[in-house]
Amino acid sequence: MIGRLNHVAIAVPDLGAAAALYRQTLGADVGPAQDLAEHGVTVVFVTLPNTKVELLAPLGAASPIQGFLDKNPSGGIHHMCFEVPDIHAARDRLVAEGARTLGQIKIGAHGKPVLFLHPKDFTGTLIELEQS
Ligand code: CO
Repeated sequence: MIGRLNHVAIAVPDLGAAAALYRQTLGADVGPAQDLAEHGVTVVFVTLPNTKVELLAPLGAASPIQGFLDKNPSGGIHHMCFEVPDIHAARDRLVAEGARTLGQIKIGAHGKPVLFLHPKDFTGTLIELEQS
């Protein structure tokens, strides 16, 4: 069911420093910062030949990544995103398999429908599905 790895997301305490690290130290193609108010994050995408890295920093007081950064003050891998061809079919299959979703399908950072899956059902890893 799952297809390509769309991105690996890394929560960071300092987005400017993280973007500079990827641009200058690692020599990657780093995009501009984008505020996603409805998701409570500011994102920078790092485009690699085969996938992307999504650098995430909290935006606003109720950011969903603040708790993660409180536990991991220097940052860390927050989630992985896999592409699926049909997000509603994917959700129905996962629910039938007994997996728990976090919230409902909504529009993600790339303007496409996304759904998050409970890390406790997926070996401790938060998984995002994005319709390709
Ligand atoms: Co993501």
